Amino acid sequence: MKWTEASVVPVRVFSTDEVSDLVRRDGAAVLTGVPDERTALSAGLRSLGTKGVRIGRQIEATQRNEAAQARAVAEQPSDDKGRKRAFTLATERMPPHNDGYAFGDFAPDHLFLWCERPAAVGGDSFLVDTSRLLDLFAADPDNADMIPFCWNVAVDHSEPNYPQDRLQPLVRLTPRGRFQGRYHPYLSAADGPTRERDRTFVRRWEHAVLSARDHGPMFRLEAGDLLCIDNYRMLHGRDSHNDPRRRLCAIWGWSTDAVSLPEGALDINDPWAAAASSTGA
Ligand SMILES: [Fe+2]
Repeated sequence: MKWTEASVVPVRVFSTDEVSDLVRRDGAAVLTGVPDERTALSAGLRSLGTKGVRIGRQIEATQRNEAAQARAVAEQPSDDKGRKRAFTLATERMPPHNDGYAFGDFAPDHLFLWCERPAAVGGDSFLVDTSRLLDLFAADPDNADMIPFCWNVAVDHSEPNYPQDRLQPLVRLTPRGRFQGRYHPYLSAADGPTRERDRTFVRRWEHAVLSARDHGPMFRLEAGDLLCIDNYRMLHGRDSHNDPRRRLCAIWGWSTDAVSLPEGALDINDPWAAAASSTGA
């Protein structure tokens, strides 16, 4: 299964100084021995070096929030394609994704996942390197047509009920020269005469991503681990678990490399917050 070669187990290090180089090289690293969220925030910002602009906690991933989130999903109307935004239960394996994908160019270019308490059983993490996926497509004569599609054909990155104003390709080089490869479960072909053809390409991208997740190695975050991720290049997620005491904080970081820097907090339940606050970074 060649797609597993895109599945990454990050190197574990003890010093923030080593994180930046590893994230640049491998797309991710684990900083160990981070005792609390405050230290996680400062370590994350320090790892961005002089490029660091902003860092902050985005979400606390615990099962305690599940009921409210599930209710919000159930109450939303279907979008014009008949879709609803789904919610992944703790007992389900998460779809691979870049964090903040709903916010398009405002998504953070760096992500930090601080593990305060792992699940007693399960809940292991996975990472998929989209840059490596592209290399694997390029090396396969049967998939050669994926390369021009991924770079050049714009698709719809919107979540249901949260439309983005611009179509964009699956991968790109950002204005500041960063590689960006994206996936989330709502990617869809753009409307138009090539829609059916484009859908087959999006499905092949999805197949490769999910194969890397399902057949590649996973790794366990222990208490005090800070998983530092290039959120433009890497997809992440966790395996299923059933431990209500698991606690992990998602911290979003923007550097001067980010395509756009939102002025305020990003909230999926407030569609206009991000759109109203655009500044280039
Ligand atoms: Fe996430």
